[in-house]
Amino acid sequence: MPSSYATAQDRIRDYFDTVGFEKWQRFARGEAQNRIQASIVAGREQAMATLLAWGGNWRGRTVLDAGCGTGAFARRLVAAGAIVTGVDISAREIEAAREHVPEAVFRQADFYAVAETFDVIVCLDSLIYYAEDDLVQLLQHLVRHTRAALYFTFTPRTLFFEVMHAVGKLFPKGNTSPAIARIKAKRLYARIAKETDWRPVRTTHISSSFYQTTLVELRPDGDVSAQAASAVARR
Ligand SMILES: C[S@@+](CC[C@H](N)C(=O)[O-])C[C@H]1O[C@@H](n2cnc3c(N)ncnc32)[C@H](O)[C@@H]1O
Repeated sequence: MPSSYATAQDRIRDYFDTVGFEKWQRFARGEAQNRIQASIVAGREQAMATLLAWGGNWRGRTVLDAGCGTGAFARRLVAAGAIVTGVDISAREIEAAREHVPEAVFRQADFYAVAETFDVIVCLDSLIYYAEDDLVQLLQHLVRHTRAALYFTFTPRTLFFEVMHAVGKLFPKGNTSPAIARIKAKRLYARIAKETDWRPVRTTHISSSFYQTTLVELRPDGDVSAQAASAVARR
């Protein structure tokens, strides 16, 4: 495990076990305390609805919610008929997820501890803290444990984010949340295609003011349903 990964991991665990816990509990309930949080809640609703629609029929499929947090998306997956396992590095998030979604199975674990295989893996806003090299390595690991599709989000390096970052608006004083990595989309897609046997077949950018995220569907190379999804994406 590279040292950059271990450093990010420690920061993330500490944050989601403490101040981040309260904040993400509120997000899971759709609550916002200010304009920035309202845009995040709205953007996340859009991301979750898109992801559910892309997945099609979830009934009976085994799904790993990797970095499940308090179970906001796991709850929707269960309602759609999926058989859900959730893992998260934060003990506190896992405790809350068990309470919120008793139908799913949750355990405290790092992504690299995932050993079993699922039909689908979902990483909703859980890989956003990892820089490009760590992100590609994580995806290499996770696709080895997925049969059909892997969905993840990342924050693209856009002019908006660069400007906001430069003026410090995204990171107001007192904000202790782990830094979000800003990733060059084209380079990431090229590396995924080259360094895994999977490839992005569908992507969409979700823009809700301060919530700027790109949702990606990965499928194994040569997958016929992937080609269909790709054709849909090009329309
Ligand atoms: C921004 S929250 C999103 C939670 C949930 N996916 C959602 O959308 O509501 C990111 C979550 O990813 C988890 N996470 C980040 N890195 C992780 C790792 N290496 N292993 C397991 N969980 C991780 C964090 O603990 C946190 O709960």
